[in-house]
Amino acid sequence: MSKVTVVGAGFVGATAAQYIADKDLADVVLIDIVEGIPQGKALDLLQAGPLNERSRNLVGTNNYADTKDSDIIVITAGIARKPGMSRDDLLKTNAAIVKQVASETLKYSPEAIYVVVTNPLDVMAYLTWQSTKLPASRVIGMAGVLDSARFQTFISLELNVAVEDIRTMVLGGHGDLMVPIPRFSTVNGIPITELLPAHKIESLCQRTRDGGAEIVSHLKTGSAYYAPAASATQMVESILKDKNRLLPCAVLAEGHYGIKDVYVGLPVILGRKGVREIVDIKLNDQELAALKKSADSIKENIQTMQQLLVAV
Ligand code: NAI
Ligand code: 2OP
Repeated sequence: MSKVTVVGAGFVGATAAQYIADKDLADVVLIDIVEGIPQGKALDLLQAGPLNERSRNLVGTNNYADTKDSDIIVITAGIARKPGMSRDDLLKTNAAIVKQVASETLKYSPEAIYVVVTNPLDVMAYLTWQSTKLPASRVIGMAGVLDSARFQTFISLELNVAVEDIRTMVLGGHGDLMVPIPRFSTVNGIPITELLPAHKIESLCQRTRDGGAEIVSHLKTGSAYYAPAASATQMVESILKDKNRLLPCAVLAEGHYGIKDVYVGLPVILGRKGVREIVDIKLNDQELAALKKSADSIKENIQTMQQLLVAV
């Protein structure tokens, strides 16, 4: 019986717990620092079981002992940036949270695979890898799946074709410098470059880069959570079912695409042991330059984080 711990019972965490149970992937432990929230949400989700005809167990807790022997740890714990808060303040706060969560969960589940969701994503994935000292194949960041799903959605809306027929690939960091790759984005195998003019493709790419901000501008407080939770769930499914799906995920680049020592979104094959392989596809000069620029910016943020953590 598989077990998944979701750390952070907020919007993304609770929704991920729901999807994981609804898809019958695993029993779920939902843990949060706030007392009552994970217990209440897990019980509510459990009571949806008979209605949704699923019998997965869901437990809410504030005690890491309950997470023992989890197959996967999904980290969504953190805070969102509030008015008046600098990016560095957010980085410092979430880094301290993620570091503590990584060490507490590892104590009870030394064999687990980590799926990191907390922002700034690529930096938090790096920090989880660094503080758990696990093989990088077992620490994976979620962002490319979400950004690709957004790109898929926008192409579907533009062409008025079934979203299931659309496949996209968004690489790089989860931020303004992410790298949608139109050449590898297709409608049932037909590259979108054959179906749409360049200026239209560029506007869909830009909407994808702004995808998170577009949702925030509607919600005003808080950020997206349905599609982020579904993205983390897709990764959990590929791992638990050993599906070996090829998905863009934040992983440690060790010379891949000429990039080193940084977590960044690359195409990977995701199976029961985590990252089975980072797939090296031939990018053109422009795509490669954009990917390197994105990786360089993540590297700078990693350095800032290291300095902020030392100062704590
Ligand atoms: P939220 O505020 O609804 O939930 C965060 C939860 O973390 C809260 O319940 C809070 O109590 C909990 N928490 C804080 N410190 C904790 C600690 N030390 N231990 C355990 N739990 C702790 O936020 P939401 O919307 O669920 O987002 C969560 C994170 O995911 C944010 O950092 C957000 O920016 C990020 N995110 C990342 C995405 C991606 O593509 N990688 C997409 C969407 C969100
Ligand atoms: C998003 O892209 C906030 O990273 C989050 O929606």
